[in-house]
Amino acid sequence: MAMISLINVNKWTPSSRTLRQFFGHFPSVELARCLKYKSKQACLHRMAGLILVEDAAKKLFDSSCASHHLTRDGTGKPKVSSLPQFQFNLSHNGSFSVLLAFKDASTPCGIDVMELDSSSVPSPMIDSISRKFSAVENLYLNHADSTESRLFRFLRIWCLKESYLKAIGIGLSIPLDSISFQINSAKFSSTEVEGDTRLFVNEVEQELKFTEMVYENHLLTACSDLKVKTIDLNILHVIDPSDFCENYSVKYNSEAEIDEFVSNYMQKQ
Ligand SMILES: CC(C)(COP(=O)(O)OP(=O)(O)OC[C@H]1O[C@@H](n2cnc3c(N)ncnc32)[C@H](O)[C@@H]1OP(=O)(O)O)[C@@H](O)C(=O)NCCC(=O)NCCS
Repeated sequence: MAMISLINVNKWTPSSRTLRQFFGHFPSVELARCLKYKSKQACLHRMAGLILVEDAAKKLFDSSCASHHLTRDGTGKPKVSSLPQFQFNLSHNGSFSVLLAFKDASTPCGIDVMELDSSSVPSPMIDSISRKFSAVENLYLNHADSTESRLFRFLRIWCLKESYLKAIGIGLSIPLDSISFQINSAKFSSTEVEGDTRLFVNEVEQELKFTEMVYENHLLTACSDLKVKTIDLNILHVIDPSDFCENYSVKYNSEAEIDEFVSNYMQKQ
């Protein structure tokens, strides 16, 4: 079973009660990671990620406090050590933090989200990054008939590559142009899900499924196993982070630690 859940961090202004519940509940090493980010939005993205992991562990395995068993491998990919079958991946961009999860550890699992916003990816950046794309991808990119369509096509290729790299968990160690996507549909609407994009690595087709969808002006791309059937807009769960904090009131950190975390958070812009 596939699960995609998301939190709109731009709609989350945690009250002081929610902040105290949040900073009381999660492991201090993870809280320090969230608070390392300078901007409030980046910090909220990471805080939302912790909530999404706990929420998915609860829904898929009926397991509480999964974040207390979070470990990261040498590349930074997180796992929950107490739930070996729990396969998940997170992505943060624009308004959203998004999680893709499966109950089966052998299923490849990668997700990427990007806001469809031209100001975040100016044309010179597209020109420079696309030099590392494959010839087939550049053909697709260069057939765009407007600036808006070029941005959409660029972000499609970007999210496809990221979701793949994140599924196999190797970050940047493969040359980007050896990963080549064959995109069969020029575009798709916000009510459709695109599922027939194919991937070739060093010209060998990969047995992976790529699911692309647009949700509230963000592109979401999931990389999974071919046998995973039901990834569509209907399986998106929108999580209310304040509700989550209200219901998960197990407290691990001391009042003094909570004070310090809250004060650190309040200083962010
Ligand atoms: C982490 C990485 C894999 C993605 O980073 P990113 O795009 O900045 O960030 P995203 O928001 O999509 O994902 C961040 C999440 O990925 C997860 N993650 C971290 N390292 C990971 C890895 N090696 N593999 C898979 N997932 C990873 C984490 O859960 C992280 O969220 P968290 O910090 O809240 O736990 C990045 O290090 C990277 O190397 N990306 C490849 C860049 C690239 O060449 N892209 C080509 C596109 S054309």
